[in-house]
Amino acid sequence: MNRRQITQRQLETFATVARLGSFSRAAETLHLTQPAVSIQVKQLSETIGLPLFEQIGRDIRLTAAGEELQATVRALDDEWARFDSAIGALWGMHSGRLRVALVTTAKYFLPRMLGAFCRRYPHIDVQLEITNRAGVVARMRGNEDDLYIMSLPPTDMDIVVRPFLDNPLVVIAPLGHPAADRRCTLDELAGESFLLREPGSGSRAAIDRHLQKLEKALQVRLTVASNEAIRDLVSSGLGLSILSRHSLAANPADDGICILDVEHFPIQQPWSIVHLKGKVLSLPAQAFMSELVQAAGIN
Ligand code: PGA
Repeated sequence: MNRRQITQRQLETFATVARLGSFSRAAETLHLTQPAVSIQVKQLSETIGLPLFEQIGRDIRLTAAGEELQATVRALDDEWARFDSAIGALWGMHSGRLRVALVTTAKYFLPRMLGAFCRRYPHIDVQLEITNRAGVVARMRGNEDDLYIMSLPPTDMDIVVRPFLDNPLVVIAPLGHPAADRRCTLDELAGESFLLREPGSGSRAAIDRHLQKLEKALQVRLTVASNEAIRDLVSSGLGLSILSRHSLAANPADDGICILDVEHFPIQQPWSIVHLKGKVLSLPAQAFMSELVQAAGIN
């Protein structure tokens, strides 16, 4: 294989197709035509001497050679980020890149903190991804970002976890619910229907784990992949729910809901900043992490 024939452009195109699992979406993202994308991937695969993708039905999947190349592109990317940050250090945070992936429920407070960071360092290129816990864990496995914000870090990965903020999960009901002004037990809510987040959500995983520990079960009527939709459905009287306090207004009554005082609640599950243990953190990533920890008052 003649490595010199491989261009940066081909690698970028390959990585985009691999990430999006589609030639047409990669073409859209890269502002290229689909044939241009296919030609670049074809040339790359000819240089390597093996196919990089295979067609399974209507999907495309990486071949073993494709997976090797994807890992190499990511490692190269990390090296460039390290170089970037070394240069950034020489410039004094006047350049560089910060990639953060957060779980959906962290979007209520994290962007504000990130906004302050962006204003302080206007030359840092910040990329933010928001998805549910399962999506964040998948990105972590692929080493796609510098930092991850979540409340239930995976236990089977070599990672560094720094808790930085409380994340109480509270029981909510429509305004005027009969249990609104008193303390109640979970058993008293046994007849109620619950609307919960989807499997794959960190909030849902924390709720399931908590109930299992208490040996209790809820009547789950609906599974919804959106905190906002759940909040609105609860306020319209469809049932109760358990959501992060961060996903509710400062005054929940403004949204037509109230927080119930239920025994064994709220579930306490702090937010953590997580990164892969072997990851060389760029200067912006280090700076953002210490700002976050400081802003939350934990050292
Ligand atoms: P979620 O994440 O938005 O996936 O529920 C919250 C969490 O990780 O606790």
